[in-house]
Amino acid sequence: MVSRVIPVDPFDLVLFGATGDLARRKILPSLFHRYKIGQFDDGTRVIGASRSDLTQEAFRDLVREALTTYGHPDDTTPEDITAFVSLLDYVAIDARGDDGWAGLGEKLRDNVVRAFYLSVAPGLFADIAERLKSTGIATPDSRIVVEKPFGHDLASAKALNAALGAHFEEHQIYRIDHYLGKETVQNLMALRFANSLFEPLWNSSQIDHVQITVAESIDVAGRGEYYDKSGAMRDMVQNHLMQLLCLTAMEPPARFTPNAVRNEKLKVIEALKPVAPNEIARGQYRESDGDDSYLDHACDPNSTTESFIAMKVQVANWRWAGTPFYLRTGKCLRARSSEIAVFFRDPPHNIFDADNPVAGNVLVIRLQPDEGITLHTTIKDPGPGGMRLTTAKLDMTFADSLPEAGRPQDAYERLIMDVIRGNQTLFMRGDEVEAAWAWADPLIKGWKDAGTAPQPYDQGSAGPEDSLLLMHRDERRWREIRS
Ligand code: BG6
Repeated sequence: MVSRVIPVDPFDLVLFGATGDLARRKILPSLFHRYKIGQFDDGTRVIGASRSDLTQEAFRDLVREALTTYGHPDDTTPEDITAFVSLLDYVAIDARGDDGWAGLGEKLRDNVVRAFYLSVAPGLFADIAERLKSTGIATPDSRIVVEKPFGHDLASAKALNAALGAHFEEHQIYRIDHYLGKETVQNLMALRFANSLFEPLWNSSQIDHVQITVAESIDVAGRGEYYDKSGAMRDMVQNHLMQLLCLTAMEPPARFTPNAVRNEKLKVIEALKPVAPNEIARGQYRESDGDDSYLDHACDPNSTTESFIAMKVQVANWRWAGTPFYLRTGKCLRARSSEIAVFFRDPPHNIFDADNPVAGNVLVIRLQPDEGITLHTTIKDPGPGGMRLTTAKLDMTFADSLPEAGRPQDAYERLIMDVIRGNQTLFMRGDEVEAAWAWADPLIKGWKDAGTAPQPYDQGSAGPEDSLLLMHRDERRWREIRS
């Protein structure tokens, strides 16, 4: 099986913040790889826009360097880079003033898809949206793409939604959560809704609990200023982990259409119970073996921002009542490892002897690294010696099972092409984002009001002691974090 490349319509993509970090590391390399694979043709244009006074040639050089640094080495030849940069144009623009807008308007063509990608600070979203509309550059079919953080709390998210909504219809707004573009995250929907095996078991009668882990080994160096105002709750849980929870817990949509999927996700968020303070464990990594502590990079030397969080979340509906979802994420942990682990209940009765305990199956959906799906099963220990049980894995690592698919696509490659196609399934709707903040805000307020400090944890560990206790209290254990 060779992976299919479905061409997209010709487009003009304007990348605001084109000289920034995200543009150079992710957006431009993703566009490059999609171009190289043949998904769009030479008629397409990518127009960089930023405050810097650059010539077209200087911008092309900057992109050349970004692709050499961040492109996939096996897939990035100098000839391909030269072909790709010939599609690039550049305009210096003042997001809050008049400069550059007329020039941008002149560069855009009629009758092709127009996409405006705002890879800029959220404080500029409203100004750029307003200018795009008032200058007539944005047409009724144009798309506007915005990056996270989408708000800092419910009030700011509502203000951003209102600011974008004043100039663009909801069907034109693409709020990126790059976790939704990850291959395995979409596979979760295929696993649940394209197979008959799992869905009948996907409820609290059969599932004991679910663990969602997004563990990172990196620290916050270089991002301390942003991160210290966010912490793990705002940076990861309100968005990425929430999306994973929604896809795991949602009801089957009647159709695979953007709003049918997003309606079901929204219902999950709205069904979440408030989380009690003793069901939340917050941590902050400390200095170890000469490595900087969290506080070395925070703006405030006494910061109580968490670099780790774990919590027990309950979805209060018929399907999930009695089946907790445990979420955890953090920086400087033992390994980079993200997974959703579904723990099925133990068999109701053990017909074997006490030396052969039987345990529930565990279905692990591995997001990264080594994307794949594993079902932990109990089998007979092979060979003579009577009936002895052991555990074995039914393992589908995508790289082994589907080698023809080639290297995994970066989430941004898929998401940007979906913008051009006009498919919003993998983008967050305004009401979803607001519902997630409405759930998160009181939890954050709870620990702020109580003045609780996060518990220190060692770098390279699995997080603070409180996180283990959270599980022990329920007579459960976290799965080990390993790469
Ligand atoms: C970002 C967060 O949204 O996701 C970062 O701001 C985090 O703090 C990153 O490191 C994780 O993404 P990935 O794709 O590397 O798991």
